[in-house]
Amino acid sequence: MLQVDFTNLDAARVGPDRGVEWDRELAAFTPRLEAARDALWERAGAPEAMLGWVHLPEATDVLRSVQRFALSREDVTDVLVLGIGGSALGAKALDATLGGAGARLHFVDNVEPEPVAALFDRLDPRTTLVNVISKSGTTAETMAAFLLALDWLRRSLGDGWKRQVVVTTDPERGALRPFAERHGLASFTIPPDVGGRFSVFSPVGLVPLALAGVEVEALLTGARKANASARADVGENLPAQTALAQHLAWRKGQRISVLMPYSTRLALLPAWFVQLHAESLGKAYDRSGSRVHMGPTPLPAVGATDQHSQVQLFREGPFDKVVVFVRHREADRDLTLPAEEGLEELGYLFGKSLFQLLRAEAAATAHALAAARRPNYTIWIERPDAYHLGWLLQHLMWQTAFLGELWNVNAFDQPGVELGKRYTYALLGRPGYEELAEELARAGVKP
Ligand code: PA5
Repeated sequence: MLQVDFTNLDAARVGPDRGVEWDRELAAFTPRLEAARDALWERAGAPEAMLGWVHLPEATDVLRSVQRFALSREDVTDVLVLGIGGSALGAKALDATLGGAGARLHFVDNVEPEPVAALFDRLDPRTTLVNVISKSGTTAETMAAFLLALDWLRRSLGDGWKRQVVVTTDPERGALRPFAERHGLASFTIPPDVGGRFSVFSPVGLVPLALAGVEVEALLTGARKANASARADVGENLPAQTALAQHLAWRKGQRISVLMPYSTRLALLPAWFVQLHAESLGKAYDRSGSRVHMGPTPLPAVGATDQHSQVQLFREGPFDKVVVFVRHREADRDLTLPAEEGLEELGYLFGKSLFQLLRAEAAATAHALAAARRPNYTIWIERPDAYHLGWLLQHLMWQTAFLGELWNVNAFDQPGVELGKRYTYALLGRPGYEELAEELARAGVKP
């Protein structure tokens, strides 16, 4: 079950009045949210709408082929995942929570030489599978890592390198697809109508996660629950509701959106969310071409750790944030705090469990923020397992799509990212980018 508690969103009120404003706003916005829901579902069939991610949880044929592939590669001890942005962050976050039963995943999503070299030093090419993931098949960071990985494999394995590579890319575009075909490499497809940051439930996320021993089927089952919720009436439609909460915050000037799971295991979830919201909603123009400069700034945090860091700012700093907690109701394992003679001052802890303490910390922080009129709400899941995380991630993708509708921005393009990529190509002398190279030279930009 995934539930949302909006009690503290109406943080200006305390006591029995709390929640009144939320109920009123939800009623007032229902027609707009219904229109957004209908528009999204109507467009979900059109390839150019880039809503293919909506259908990924139903793609059981893809799931089966991923599972078969993972089963056929039980010899693999380590997977070198070469990808960046949407081609890495989802699997990275989920592996941190759910991995451990299968191969170890190592993500190369930067081009700093030392960590990359250290991986090549440490890993055994005979038991390492290189999963290169790039929708465009051209991203410089990923392609650079792939060139190095190919060389590393070839030097140790000769022709045997081919068995140690699996490619995940567009069915047609880019350099990777023909390369995979030419060498007969194992490969998977990213559907053309699924953008990078919405691709975690395509082979982009499923292949490495299945190799890591994650229950990928449960991820998709959970994601289908989010789809069902996103179809429902507004009163039951949690993505529409959390989108509204974000919209109300934006309207009141709370333009920083903090995501704060109370779980170390979920510590990388905010990084995935940051990309999802930042790239989807940070836009200069709306869909009619008017200049809008929209987009809340997503900010990662983790509880209870950040109680001793950012929470001071959240509670007493500018009134510019909405804080979203992610909490789980059940611990898979718990530890009881033993009594200790000489430490009687800690008696309030004796006999309590660590999870009890975590829960108290989260509840206390949410209240401390509300009492200081800092809006916050809590997304509850039972436990951070594959089913609930599938639900949560798909929920957040839907929330993003709803916000795109409410703000009339295209949540599925990323012109700012593309421009950065083109400038990089120009700086490195890639043919076809001469004009940009001249612009950079005029501006005195050097690598
Ligand atoms: O969400 C996006 O579209 C981007 O973050 C991409 O995932 C990222 O730029 C990597 O692109 P590609 O998968 O084409 O290498």
